[in-house]
Amino acid sequence: MIKQISHLGIAVKNLEEARKFYRSILGLESADPIIGGDGTIKVSMVEIGNALIELLQPVGSEGVIAKFLEKHGEGFHHICYEVNDINAEVASLKSKGINVLGDPRPGAEGMSIFLHPRGTHGVLIEFVEKKE
Ligand code: CO
Repeated sequence: MIKQISHLGIAVKNLEEARKFYRSILGLESADPIIGGDGTIKVSMVEIGNALIELLQPVGSEGVIAKFLEKHGEGFHHICYEVNDINAEVASLKSKGINVLGDPRPGAEGMSIFLHPRGTHGVLIEFVEKKE
């Protein structure tokens, strides 16, 4: 079962410039960046109420965010829904014929998995089961 929106992922060219915009223009603080995505992404989370904005900057020219920026430029990348039980969710999606990308993997917030935009009306969807 989906509980709520966890975060919105936004691809940016320069994480520090983006964090500066969120802080000085929008008045939103962001967490210290961490490296994720097998070392190909630098991530900073911006807190807004119960949800987060996940600012994603590529590290190097490989990796999904580098490829995304090349193709689309900066902007909205994915929406992440928080679920109670990721394995149950994946089993349910697969039984409905949905294209799940790989197996659940540990991320910053907990175990997560992505659904290809081809099967979701054009939006890359992430599911996360948050660790306690
Ligand atoms: Co995400």
